[in-house]
Amino acid sequence: MIVAIDGPAGSGKSTVASTLARRLGFRHLDTGAMYRALTWIALRDGVDVTDGAALAELARERPVSFGGDGSVELDGEDVRTAIREAEIDRLVPAVASHPEVRAVMRERQRALALGGDSVIEGRDIGKVVAPAADVKVFLQADEDERARRRAADRPGVEAETLAADLRDRDERDAVNTVPAADAVLLDTTELTIDEVVERIVGLVDAVR
Ligand code: C5P
Repeated sequence: MIVAIDGPAGSGKSTVASTLARRLGFRHLDTGAMYRALTWIALRDGVDVTDGAALAELARERPVSFGGDGSVELDGEDVRTAIREAEIDRLVPAVASHPEVRAVMRERQRALALGGDSVIEGRDIGKVVAPAADVKVFLQADEDERARRRAADRPGVEAETLAADLRDRDERDAVNTVPAADAVLLDTTELTIDEVVERIVGLVDAVR
């Protein structure tokens, strides 16, 4: 079974997806981490983030893999912490905007999804990567609440800067952040993580 969880930054999708995966005994596939890891290695290797062909080549040569303990591995390194830096937040939409990059990622994400029951989180999962997913959810939350959540994730970065970065990232990601026509839209502004997870478990139970 595939559960697709899409939504913008701060909508709650990472926490919801990992909690849900644990609860269901499914694997958790974080596609945002894949774009982040590619951005990290492009920076390390001096690959221009405006060069789609070079980035696609890098993505093909250096595939990201996920360890069971939450690790994100690339080129022999665990990059799970490094890919959450504010610098990566700012650069990742440029990397993810290239159709050549998305094509490589899409194929890899589909291959990983074939490995068994999965909760896949991202922005285009229900619509593009896994249109046949059994359950599709698109999470939303109001802008202030999303900025507050982001601030909790990024201690040490000024709230104003984070809010501006979030707005900028929303704009640049908008074209690839589109709910599937058959996705269930869930506003998480007033909900706890557990409440969101419960609702999705209800959707999963209804189809199995
Ligand atoms: O979900 P997260 O904020 O970690 O995603 C990081 C970035 O990766 C997004 O801002 C977006 O540019 C890109 N992304 C994407 N498609 C996905 C997942 C993430 O374009 N399915």
